[in-house]
Amino acid sequence: MGAATHTQDELKAMAARAALAYVEPGQVIGVGTGSTVNHFLDALAQSGLDVRGAVSSSEASSQRLRALGIAVHDSNAVADLSVYIDGADEIDGSGCMIKGGGAALTREKIVAALARRFICVADQSKQVQVLGRFALPVEVIPMAAAHIGRRFAAGVCGTSGRAVLREGPEGPLVTDNGQHLLDVHGLQITDPLAFEQTVNQWPGVVTVGVFAQHRASVCLLATQDGVQTLNFEAGPPSADC
Ligand code: 5RP
Repeated sequence: MGAATHTQDELKAMAARAALAYVEPGQVIGVGTGSTVNHFLDALAQSGLDVRGAVSSSEASSQRLRALGIAVHDSNAVADLSVYIDGADEIDGSGCMIKGGGAALTREKIVAALARRFICVADQSKQVQVLGRFALPVEVIPMAAAHIGRRFAAGVCGTSGRAVLREGPEGPLVTDNGQHLLDVHGLQITDPLAFEQTVNQWPGVVTVGVFAQHRASVCLLATQDGVQTLNFEAGPPSADC
């Protein structure tokens, strides 16, 4: 009989449980959005770890936190966070990520910026050599969407892609911030930091879903053989000046 294999959801839960080791009682922590984070929140509630609360990156995570009896703090009331725990749609070999599959990329980047360490929780399917197989989410001011789409088609940092407006239940999806989302297909992002900085300059871009400046400090990557800890803290410094 072959070895039992874990489903993707079981792998997500394994990575999420491993993140409890990065949380200390009495802390206010940053929490992201998505199914892996939901596993983390469930594990946190069951662990008995008495955190002071969380700064959340989405309405969905805030609701789940409150339902689990964990206080949600206003990001403006917190000077910094020791840790931010979130998933990713893709992560490369230097801890740069694509995020925003759950449409929460803008608040995710804000909470990540408040945190000293970004602990990424992911299953092995998220690991890539080059970012871009997952369509890149870009939150945009609605009146700029078509123009930004044309700029991706024309090319940026040596790659180009096809932007598609993300649909919601009743027309274009509206984010928690009242904006629209483009998903850009076909990119190959070989220099994530330059790409992020360039697209950030385009008028009408609210947030690009490349997390290079605020890349993962650590990735807890769940594989069929267990959870690997990938440490990126010794990597090149961010371009913050
Ligand atoms: C939400 C995100 C999520 O972290 C990303 O989509 C991964 O989600 P999941 O844990 O459900 O696979 O960026 O905006």
